[in-house]
Amino acid sequence: MNIVVLTGAGISAESGVPTFRGADGLWEGYRVEEVATPEAFEADPLLVHTFYNMRRAKLLDGTIHPNPAHLALARLAESKEHELFLVTQNIDDLHERGGSPEVLHMHGELLKARCVDCGAVNPWREEMGRSSVCRACGHIDCLRPHVVWFGEMPIGLDEIGSAISRADLFVAIGTSGLVYPAAGFVSLARQAGVRTLELNLEATAGSNVFHESRRGRAGELVPLWVGELTGD
Ligand code: OAD
Repeated sequence: MNIVVLTGAGISAESGVPTFRGADGLWEGYRVEEVATPEAFEADPLLVHTFYNMRRAKLLDGTIHPNPAHLALARLAESKEHELFLVTQNIDDLHERGGSPEVLHMHGELLKARCVDCGAVNPWREEMGRSSVCRACGHIDCLRPHVVWFGEMPIGLDEIGSAISRADLFVAIGTSGLVYPAAGFVSLARQAGVRTLELNLEATAGSNVFHESRRGRAGELVPLWVGELTGD
């Protein structure tokens, strides 16, 4: 079977990464416009760097690990009977750490830096600031987090669209279905005659669009669902 999986913050919640719209929401203490827009970066690069430096340091502090949902998706990718296209809205690296061989990060990656001068994208695990040097062109004061901010175009939309149109099954895991274009993938799938399944802790804005919606923790639901597909 050809399967497209879209993951959101809910899949990393049990790993200790707060979701965006939960009670302990990531944006608490910060207005989104202050830290996640190109305008914010222009106006106050130090504040935006500080925010992403904090998130990067937290991701790497040794307390955050992939959970059974990430591991199950890596097992699914290994299965000979199924073809998996994994796209995530998450900027953490938990799918990769869980063993997923290929992940399309449509909202970018926290552990990468992008140079606004030469366009190079490089791995970046340390603090980033105005004095950071681009490893490709050697310029300073030109690096930004390789994350998609509000008002910017997500990454890989054409590739995602064609993967969905070829799929037999589209599955959304731990995403609130509030942020477009990802929130529209389920409708795209339905228009293409693709079966759709939602795995989420609770009902979402888009639940009624899916053929089937299962409620529960990703760490439990995802391994069960992968087990159904692979017979493990
Ligand atoms: P949200 O925070 O909007 O939604 C998280 C979803 O995960 C909710 O529907 C929860 O019910 C669900 N959830 C929470 N814990 C869960 C668990 N243990 N198991 C299963 N589900 C659980 O996060 P996203 O939908 O990922 O964009 O947000 C989408 C985008 O909004 C983000 O990528 C980000 C943000 O603005 C950018 O930064 C561009």
